[in-house]
Amino acid sequence: MKTRKTIVGAIDPEALAFTVGKDPVLDLALLEADCLGTAAHVAMLSNLPLKPRLFTANERRKTMAELIRIMRAGRRGAFAIRAEDQDVHLAVERVLTARLGDLGKRVHTARSRNDQVAVDLRLFAKMRLLDIMDAALDLTGALTDFAERHARLPMVGRTHLQPAMPSSVGLWAASFAEGLLDDLILLQAAYEFNDRNPLGSAAGYGAPLPLDRRATAAALGFREAVGNVLHAAAARGKCEAVVLSALAQTMLTLSRLAEDTILYAMPEFGYFSLPRDCTTGSSIMPQKNNPDIYELVRAKAGRVLGDATAAAVIVKGLPNGYNRDLQETKEPFMNGLETVHACLRVLAFATPRLHAHGDALARAFTPDVFATDRVLDLVRQGESFRNAYNRVKARIGETVAADPGAAIRSRPSLRDPGIRAARRRATALRRKVARQRARFHGALTRLLGMPYPALAPTGRGSNQ
Ligand code: ARG
Repeated sequence: MKTRKTIVGAIDPEALAFTVGKDPVLDLALLEADCLGTAAHVAMLSNLPLKPRLFTANERRKTMAELIRIMRAGRRGAFAIRAEDQDVHLAVERVLTARLGDLGKRVHTARSRNDQVAVDLRLFAKMRLLDIMDAALDLTGALTDFAERHARLPMVGRTHLQPAMPSSVGLWAASFAEGLLDDLILLQAAYEFNDRNPLGSAAGYGAPLPLDRRATAAALGFREAVGNVLHAAAARGKCEAVVLSALAQTMLTLSRLAEDTILYAMPEFGYFSLPRDCTTGSSIMPQKNNPDIYELVRAKAGRVLGDATAAAVIVKGLPNGYNRDLQETKEPFMNGLETVHACLRVLAFATPRLHAHGDALARAFTPDVFATDRVLDLVRQGESFRNAYNRVKARIGETVAADPGAAIRSRPSLRDPGIRAARRRATALRRKVARQRARFHGALTRLLGMPYPALAPTGRGSNQ
């Protein structure tokens, strides 16, 4: 059978197709990160005290300019990865060599695709996690605003889904805001876990050249370099699993918000409704107004949990060092990052449009919802709690309804459902994310000599 020629040897077309898998498509998402990694590598090589230099200042500038052209082509959708390229790494080398000749053949000096893909994925995760954290903060803001608007709107609090105690829409909504802020602790931890540079580890064993991994770490805006090169290669997959597990926790919060909204928007409850432009109709039933957004968020939570499991299970049982198995973590990783971002955005959009119906919420306040309040009235009059409880329980059918508004006012935890505290946490986190973004983008701007992410010349940039 005829073999296909690739940069790294001839291969049977079927074996090529199988091993390449979805990389030519998935790797397009890594194009920008791959160019940035190559830019940092070339800049570092050009500074090595070798004679002759691996890259002169002029050669470095020319390579940088081509990398920026490739990044821009990628943004226009004008960059393709061919099956013979196998992946984005060799596709970029092919294009650089076609444009720069011998110079392009030097960019892979002392580098392996293993450290390229590792650094690409970490850069990709940094970009996506920053956007995800901002989107999570947007949704937190939408939820606290909703909670504030409805802080005094009575809603029956439920346990086991059974009516339990007087509560408010504000308490309900602010609980999800605080849940997201807790999830953001994990997202921040995942960001930090990921924020280390694996570039320069080559195939996992370094190279007989004085590669400066601290320099590439600084150039790419990483906090520091991974210390052990074998760990730099082997942390791939693990890093994805860690990020995905933080994402899965975020999705568990969104799934609960979705489930509650679906339930309480049922006509039988009628607590909430969504405007028509946020719901879908039916092709046969003219009356339908379906909460598809929330159903899809609920389902996607399952998928992201599956993605986290997939990454962890692929890593489990792998020997140390690079193994091709790791390629299979790419799709769940990308799916998880994209899905969580999309879910956060759609809910941040839908939340302010959610309508709360005071009359339906009020109708749910049957007298038994106030049973505990009656017990505590007796306690206030000097009776022991258990005796008061037994007295109210013995005549539960005679419990009289009370004013839900007064019940809310009598509870410190309902008067203050944590809105201000949530806003304080959100403001501090917003600043932290902005600092992380500025540090990352600042480094990339210096590396490229051009504002990143704009990639548009300002006239003052230089490739120093
Ligand atoms: N597409 C590959 C991956 O995702 C790139 C690394 C290939 N390395 C190798 N030694 N075959 O893992």
